[in-house]
Amino acid sequence: MEKWVLLYFALFNLKAFAQDTWLGIDCGSATSTTTIGGVWQTDGAFIKTGTNQFVSSDNFQTLALLNTLRAFPMQNKNCYALPARATRYFIRAIFLYGNYDNLLKPPTFDLEIDGNKWMTVVSSSTEILHYEIIYTSTGDTISVCLARTQANQFPFISSLEAWPIFDSNAYIHMNRDLAWLNTYRYNYGANDWILGYPLDTYNRLWEPMAQSGLLNTSADNGTILTTKPYEYPPDSAVLDAMEAQNATDSISLSFGPIKLNSLIYIEAYFTAMSLDEVTETREFGFYVGNKQLATVFTEYGKCTAIWALVQRSSSSLTIELRPTKISTLPPIISAIEVYTASDPLVTTRTSQNDLDGLEVFISTFQQLKGWSGEPCLPTNMAWQWLGCTGSDPPRVTSINLSGYNLSGFLPDFSQMQALENIDLSNNSLGGQIPEFLGNLPYLKTLNLQYNDFSGRIPSSISNNKRITYNIEGNTNLDASHKNKSTTALIIGLSVGLSLVIILILVALTYWLIQKRAHQGQNQATGPESGAPPVAQGSPPKMNSASVSIGASTEQLLRPQPPPSAPMEPSMEEDFEQNSDEDYVPVSDANQIHQSMVPEMDLEELEDIIKQHENNAHDDLSSPKSRS
Ligand SMILES: *[C@@H]1O[C@H](CO)[C@@H](O)[C@H](O)[C@H]1NC(C)=O
Ligand SMILES: *[C@@H]1O[C@H](CO)[C@@H](O)[C@H](O)[C@H]1NC(C)=O
Ligand SMILES: *[C@@H]1O[C@H](CO)[C@@H](O)[C@H](O)[C@H]1NC(C)=O
Ligand SMILES: *[C@@H]1O[C@H](CO)[C@@H](O)[C@H](O)[C@H]1NC(C)=O
Ligand SMILES: *[C@@H]1O[C@H](CO)[C@@H](O)[C@H](O)[C@H]1NC(C)=O
Ligand SMILES: *[C@@H]1O[C@H](CO)[C@@H](O)[C@H](O)[C@H]1NC(C)=O
Repeated sequence: MEKWVLLYFALFNLKAFAQDTWLGIDCGSATSTTTIGGVWQTDGAFIKTGTNQFVSSDNFQTLALLNTLRAFPMQNKNCYALPARATRYFIRAIFLYGNYDNLLKPPTFDLEIDGNKWMTVVSSSTEILHYEIIYTSTGDTISVCLARTQANQFPFISSLEAWPIFDSNAYIHMNRDLAWLNTYRYNYGANDWILGYPLDTYNRLWEPMAQSGLLNTSADNGTILTTKPYEYPPDSAVLDAMEAQNATDSISLSFGPIKLNSLIYIEAYFTAMSLDEVTETREFGFYVGNKQLATVFTEYGKCTAIWALVQRSSSSLTIELRPTKISTLPPIISAIEVYTASDPLVTTRTSQNDLDGLEVFISTFQQLKGWSGEPCLPTNMAWQWLGCTGSDPPRVTSINLSGYNLSGFLPDFSQMQALENIDLSNNSLGGQIPEFLGNLPYLKTLNLQYNDFSGRIPSSISNNKRITYNIEGNTNLDASHKNKSTTALIIGLSVGLSLVIILILVALTYWLIQKRAHQGQNQATGPESGAPPVAQGSPPKMNSASVSIGASTEQLLRPQPPPSAPMEPSMEEDFEQNSDEDYVPVSDANQIHQSMVPEMDLEELEDIIKQHENNAHDDLSSPKSRS
């Protein structure tokens, strides 16, 4: 529940304000605008995607800033890179849909900051939404992204601002490892909004608020505040207030909804309204959830702040100001801010190797220039052409740039070692297929269909049993490898991880030794007689090693004839022709022993099979080449 609370004063000592550190982007605007607060810039320097739009004419606002917006119909994620330094910022995003697309369909989408979800933006046709966060920058940029979360609902943004919190004592009790979402910021007893700088040195927006049962009051004309808290609430916010009806009445302020079980940070401001208070006493208890956290008294010429950090297990928050017995004036409230802590922020980024690899991609292909910001975070909101692990740090496991109109040569992205699937089909990629693809340690599928690759398929790929590749539709690619299918062996390896296979191999080896002994009698008679030996790279009709496994398995699972039995000669023939024998397709054979002892180490098994395969090639081909 309530954690702790502190009452404090601070000398009003506003440091020279570094105006140039403010960043404001008038999203969707074609020109920058100079205001008293500084220059509102155009999007160009901060983001590469999106289109500039205007709200429809019947939605025009007097604040010109709101009449333009940037919409993002193409990519699922669109990121602004805001230059930053290691300090805290107020960051604010404003959204006014204003029916810019004449569809009357205000979209819902996500707002993200540095790989964390900030907010789900549910825009409306008429309402101006603003979201503000206190965020501590960790790097030299802050990435603010707009992410599509619903089909055909395209994110947009009207303005984006970053305002440094130059006084490190401000909001000092907010944990800097979290982001703090401004949930409520009320200016009691006021008539109008305070719209940031220059009225507020921190550029905050203060909403006028009146509560029934309370009385409006404002400070004597000419009141000067000599003491203010480090948060520097604007004078115009704290020199008017609402107070209870009389000195025995309490003030009860309710806020909701409040995010369940989140840390809530409250900053409440109190000011004496009149010089008369010097002879009177205004004193009251500050209660949250019926528990007194502090006693407040007001002094003329001073603004007092109370902060409290609370955690609520209900979705509402009630603050009460109850007069003490000695109070001769009613309780009063000038202004209040309520912030909700974010979920824990991600502490890592996508693996640096993968970031480097993606950078290579993006800098190579014009079509990818718009991709920026965190590729894999937040989890489940990766760039649309990537698949990532949810691990820490996230790794990129798949790339699908099918149909992205990429042309030119593939860059070296071999540092992306976690890749399992690569789909670059339906582009115009040319040149040789790079060797490194076959050396990616986890690559399973490689789709290079419908490109303009030429030359030969690197042996790192064609000889790699782990990789299933597809190279259809590359007219200049050496045809000799085109139809090679590695699938059969892959199935054999991944499904048939059983001791049975080892037994088979032993049996087969034994058989081969036996066969060698019988070579004189068993001349090769298959249709491939005279063809180049398999070992010299002719396109095999079927992977001989896998066929061997399948056939031998069948033998093993039956009552076994002795190795020198009449079965032997037919084994030497091409298996496709071998209809006298009970040839069992590899997949069937594997189905039989799928459920057996799957505890072999894959690499060990691969080695054994590879070794066997080489032997088998030698043994099987040598008699043929001699014939
Ligand atoms: C206080 O001021 C607000 C804003 O002008 C007004 O809406 C409200 O009715 C006033 N309340 C009282 C009690 O006068
Ligand atoms: C304060 O000044 C305003 C105009 O600036 C005037 O209307 C109001 O009556 C003054 N109030 C007092 C208490 O002098
Ligand atoms: C103070 O105001 C409350 C209502 O706001 C009322 O019930 C109570 O009687 C008042 N007390 C005095 C002493 O006027
Ligand atoms: C890649 O994306 C295309 C369509 O965008 C889809 O048809 C294809 O199946 C995807 N490839 C993989 C490997 O998921
Ligand atoms: C590729 O180009 C075609 C034709 O210009 C276009 O229709 C398609 O949208 C482009 N694809 C991408 C992903 O840009
Ligand atoms: C790729 O191109 C082929 C041939 O033009 C076409 O049949 C296939 O649908 C395309 N695939 C994708 C994902 O665009």
